[in-house]
Amino acid sequence: MDNRGNTIAGWVLAGCVAALGLSIASGMAFHGGRPEKMGYPIEGVEESGAGGGAAEAPIATRLATADAAKGQASFAKCAACHTITQGGANGVGPNLYATLGEAIAQGKAGFAFSEALKAKGGKWDFDTMDAWLKSPRKFADGTKMTFAGLGNAEERANVIAYLNAQGSNLPLPAAPAAGAPDAAAAAGEGSNAAAAVEGNATTGATANVVESATPAAGAPSVDPAAKERAPK
Ligand code: HEC
Repeated sequence: MDNRGNTIAGWVLAGCVAALGLSIASGMAFHGGRPEKMGYPIEGVEESGAGGGAAEAPIATRLATADAAKGQASFAKCAACHTITQGGANGVGPNLYATLGEAIAQGKAGFAFSEALKAKGGKWDFDTMDAWLKSPRKFADGTKMTFAGLGNAEERANVIAYLNAQGSNLPLPAAPAAGAPDAAAAAGEGSNAAAAVEGNATTGATANVVESATPAAGAPSVDPAAKERAPK
């Protein structure tokens, strides 16, 4: 039992260390020195935030500020399974040269695509690629691409910009007109909510202090009585 406890504790600890390392590493790789204006594409957000709190700007908006060089760095996550050079070999996944704009799950020197992805039909455009890279499994349930997806909307846009630059060169979509005031309002609400939480925390702490003070305040009233008794 003890042994098992230690083993579990060891794995939990190792997990924490790994998670910390990963977050530090990814923080350095993907958030280092990002200019402040990158935070602003939120202006164009429509009410399409598919759950998960923070609404994502549409891919067209994100592409306007996407950075293909950063996308290339992120592509390291894909490179275990994909080549992207022209005429590159298929690996676990198909070669991805000029894939944007092509039919989904077609060609690629006879790569054996899953039925799930083949059944999608249509072409890889910016929207389908964005949905696919966000969650391959949600996009095509049963896909062979065992990749969790890129949760960060900005990073997806960067990767898509990079993919597009590798032989596809589709014209970038026009970013939808900015001016969804509720997006800004939502952001405002978010920070208000955070402030409210902080406020609560403070109140809670104060309340605790008051509560813990109560017994102390009661103590002196006991003390004098004790003193009165003592002299007698
Ligand atoms: C663990 C291996 C693996 C990783 C990592 C991976 N993929 Fe894939 N990818 C696959 C496989 C396998 C398929 C074929 C999926 C199917 O047939 O269902 C695929 C298919 C694709 C396709 C469809 C190609 C076509 O011609 O229709 C695209 C686009 C793609 N991957 C992009 C990416 C990108 C971008 C990344 C990194 C962010 C990535 N993949 C990471 C294995 C991987």
